[in-house]
Amino acid sequence: MVLRPPASALKFDLVTKCATTKARAATLHLPHGPVQLPMFMPVATQASLKGLTPKQLEDTSCRLCLNNTYHLGLKPGQQTLDAIGGAHKLQSWPHNILTDSGGFQMVSLLKLAQVTEEGVRFLSPHDGTPMLLTPEHSISLQNSIGSDIIMQLDDVIATTSPDHARIKEAMHRSIRWLDRCIAAHRNPSTQNLFCIIQGGLDLDLRAECTQQMVARDTPGIAIGGLSGGEAKDLYCKVVHTCTSLLPDLKPRYVMGVGYPEDILVSVALGADMFDCVWPTRTARFGNAITGTGTFNLRHAAYANDFRPVEEGCNCTCCRPESEGGLGITRAYIHHVAAKETAGAHLLSMHNVHHLLDLMRGAREAIVEQRYPAFLVDYFHGMYAGDK
Ligand code: GUN
Ligand code: ZN
Repeated sequence: MVLRPPASALKFDLVTKCATTKARAATLHLPHGPVQLPMFMPVATQASLKGLTPKQLEDTSCRLCLNNTYHLGLKPGQQTLDAIGGAHKLQSWPHNILTDSGGFQMVSLLKLAQVTEEGVRFLSPHDGTPMLLTPEHSISLQNSIGSDIIMQLDDVIATTSPDHARIKEAMHRSIRWLDRCIAAHRNPSTQNLFCIIQGGLDLDLRAECTQQMVARDTPGIAIGGLSGGEAKDLYCKVVHTCTSLLPDLKPRYVMGVGYPEDILVSVALGADMFDCVWPTRTARFGNAITGTGTFNLRHAAYANDFRPVEEGCNCTCCRPESEGGLGITRAYIHHVAAKETAGAHLLSMHNVHHLLDLMRGAREAIVEQRYPAFLVDYFHGMYAGDK
């Protein structure tokens, strides 16, 4: 028997390990260019970030965004994706793309989804026809999408579920589905398949799952099933348990986490990558994310506030016109926020930029061995600073 080395389309350069916490600074070389870890990845569900053009997303300095297999597989569909040559071409995005496998979205969006050993059964939201997403089909779609990082199909159960037997079954099924994903993957030398650790809040299940998945030697590892409303201490224990068993030289991605506090604590626990719809979703409700907290620009207090959304922010929205930005004021967003989408677009730009900038700051602090002080400053700014 010939043993093939596992194919990988990435290179992981570990730059610095924090001397106090488990934080790491690294460079991840992907097919569409290098990205710096730790990093936040904005979610562009339908091959566009809600409210932003690919060019505007590029201007936030984003170099890796998320697409969703489930949405792209339904529309434009696999044939169109194959014809156009994948999602990079579809959305004129020259940088990296990560696709989630689709099952999680179906289970969380469509209450009618049913999981069996074969895959996830659901009714098409377009015309109600019964559909089945198997590990093989998810990988085939992701191969057509051509994303730089593809995710295994996993069986996700809310951490708050009381059904321990089901959580255990989902963990074991996710391992079996990983094996089917590995066998079905056609482009391992150009697309990186990440496994997803499940196991709910049971630390023994998480440890067992981590060991099983590490043995399969995928180019990167995700921790799934979190950010579902579990208590923070339990969340932290799960992340710590998993990262303690993971190899140093692979990227670690905690799925669905996007609040700045959660990201920064998770970085201290050894996680590198995060994604969440929150920065863009909250923008659509008029919320601005800043280093002193999140505030709602629809509030009357901002009607005559002629400061930028965040003072000192270098995003396209906040930067003065004299420096090539739009020089947008809080008063302007307040004025348009209630009835026009322009306000949401501008806030999306700012919010995404804010999170990417926060990650840059975190990375710099790790490299300079001052991450603990960075955390103290951050939490001080959030909870003890002036608004
Ligand atoms: N997004 C947030 N959490 C998860 C998860 O556990 N699995 C998948 N596939 N996507 C997610
Ligand atoms: Zn800004």
